[in-house]
Amino acid sequence: MNLLLFGPPGSGKGTQAQFLSVEYRIPQISTGDILRDDVKRATPLGRQAEVFMKRGDLVPDELMVEMIRERIRRADCSGGFMLDGFPRTVPQAEALDQMLDSIGQRIDRLLSLHVDAEELVTRLTERWTCPSCSLTYHPASNPPRDDQRCDADGAGLIRREDDNAETARRRAQVYFERTYPILDFYRPRGLVVEVDGNGPIQEVRNRVKVALQGEPRAA
Ligand code: AP5
Ligand code: ZN
Repeated sequence: MNLLLFGPPGSGKGTQAQFLSVEYRIPQISTGDILRDDVKRATPLGRQAEVFMKRGDLVPDELMVEMIRERIRRADCSGGFMLDGFPRTVPQAEALDQMLDSIGQRIDRLLSLHVDAEELVTRLTERWTCPSCSLTYHPASNPPRDDQRCDADGAGLIRREDDNAETARRRAQVYFERTYPILDFYRPRGLVVEVDGNGPIQEVRNRVKVALQGEPRAA
């Protein structure tokens, strides 16, 4: 299964990706997580990306395309993969098609999560993130077992630099202007599955599971 995850910032892509990665036994490739790791290590890519990420803007296409080209060639993707956060622009979608064509693969499904605008800002500004493994937590809907520590590795949880209200709104705006329209790029292929991402995490998980089992259809 080669799966694409779409949805505005805070819609729960990373949260649902954890379940799907286990369910389908495919790696979750989060471009945001890869970029944040590069920023932390001050690599050439990280140094170039940081300024865009801080503002809530997209990192230039050519950097992102090269990152994904290198990532999906790795052995762990041979049985399928899940892209969380890529493609985000039409040129990225076109480049992904070419990459997959050249290795005889294709996208099987695109899962698009829909969440109300104000709920998105609340989720992001209250989110806690593990700097070590990137798991996310929320005090009301998904609290860690031990206050302020990651359940998986015990690391102290942090707030992402772009999880303030102003940058969260900017990220949402960028999503609706530049990323949401590319659903139309995939719709004619009958790949798009739309799911209501409002409500408790477990309920959304069940909706996603059912939706991916059936044929692609609108929510
Ligand atoms: P990225 O890291 O991809 O961030 P994003 O798209 O903004 O998505 P998030 O990680 O913020 O949200 P999510 O949907 O995964 O939500 P989560 O599951 O954590 O990108 C960051 C930046 O990198 C971009 O701004 C850009 O600069 C750059 N970038 C990345 N990819 C790029 C690309 N391809 N091209 C160019 N630039 C790129 O959930 C959010 C919170 O809500 C959590 O606290 C969670 O516990 C909670 N929650 C989840 N589900 C529910 C629920 N059902 N009910 C209640 N709470 C819930
Ligand atoms: Zn962790």
